[in-house]
Amino acid sequence: MSAMILPPMGWNTWNTFYDKVSEELVLETMDAMIEKGFRELGYRYLILDDCWALKERDAQGQLVADPDKFPHGIKALADAVHAKGMKLGIYSCCGVRTCAGYPGSFDHEYDDARQFAQWGVDYLKYDNCNRPNHISSEILNRRMAMALRSTGREIDLATCQWGTEAVKSWIASTGARTFRSTVDIQDNWFSIESIARSRLERLSWSACGCFDDMDMLVVGLNGLSMNPEVNQGGCTDEEYQTHFALWAMLNAPLILGCDVRKVEGRALEILQNKTLIKINQDPACKAPFKIPVYGNDDAFVLVKLLSDGTYAIGLFNFGDTDANVSVELWDIGLTLSSNLRMSFRDCQTNDIVGSSREHFSAVLPPHGSNVYLCALEECK
Ligand code: GLA
Repeated sequence: MSAMILPPMGWNTWNTFYDKVSEELVLETMDAMIEKGFRELGYRYLILDDCWALKERDAQGQLVADPDKFPHGIKALADAVHAKGMKLGIYSCCGVRTCAGYPGSFDHEYDDARQFAQWGVDYLKYDNCNRPNHISSEILNRRMAMALRSTGREIDLATCQWGTEAVKSWIASTGARTFRSTVDIQDNWFSIESIARSRLERLSWSACGCFDDMDMLVVGLNGLSMNPEVNQGGCTDEEYQTHFALWAMLNAPLILGCDVRKVEGRALEILQNKTLIKINQDPACKAPFKIPVYGNDDAFVLVKLLSDGTYAIGLFNFGDTDANVSVELWDIGLTLSSNLRMSFRDCQTNDIVGSSREHFSAVLPPHGSNVYLCALEECK
């Protein structure tokens, strides 16, 4: 068993490439991830989403990788990925067909789990389409979880049932590492905001060992995705920055969805922000809490306690105009009688930008955010 289970970090084919998943694409993406420094930052998983298989199982009932897309098969791909210190993820579905109409694992759970283990797969995204009505998602996820465990190979279960069936009440006990609790993300601010708002209602859901998956990142898609379901307008850099800051603060998996071979400039900086990654990957995995901003329903503050005694504090403005977003430090627990103050280090510039006993504020543009690493210090 892994010593420490943190939100997974990696890349998934779906948001940009849709059904155009292939061995060549994965290998090129892996090289780009290494070259551009993503692997060193912790992005280790390369995940094949839907559409990697043939439309029918073989005569023995096994899943078959599409030979046009994967001419050397999945085992060879897993070997190549492992040789570079990365991990391979694959996709299946607990129904009879996947969401895109490929064979699902219903009543083939043990065969498929064995197959994935033989191939050397490390992670399974497990979807929820085309499920027989009489069987719950809970039973089907327990089945696949048991099937994976029975192989003796450590394979992460990343379930995806969009937050239905009171998933939070049972998912951690299946042993799943993550659970998708939201609808599919699209490349626009409306989608990011609505996913984030739904998570603000259940901040404690994502914590140690089992993480609430808010879907793959759209940072860097810039309205250029080949996936018609995802390619819905694009975002500004400010919105992509806020998207990444939210996913980091909310303990969500950080799964890239862009074309890593082409990502550059501001998108690259956003995805490689070391402080936000450190906050997301903090070993204590504390759930954040939210502080409302008086008189502004579109602004809020998130606070996450970090294992080294510091605090991550994020100011967010979901409004369509500039806003002065202020946090009162007594809302976090600081009193004047403590003789302590809190310093604020900006996550983007890495500079200390303030130190206060009472409050801290910043003017944020529409859909903007700022996250700070904050430490308590004695007042002189
Ligand atoms: C569902 C999932 C998506 C993606 C597609 C693939 O819609 O929620 O993340 O995996 O299926 O068909």
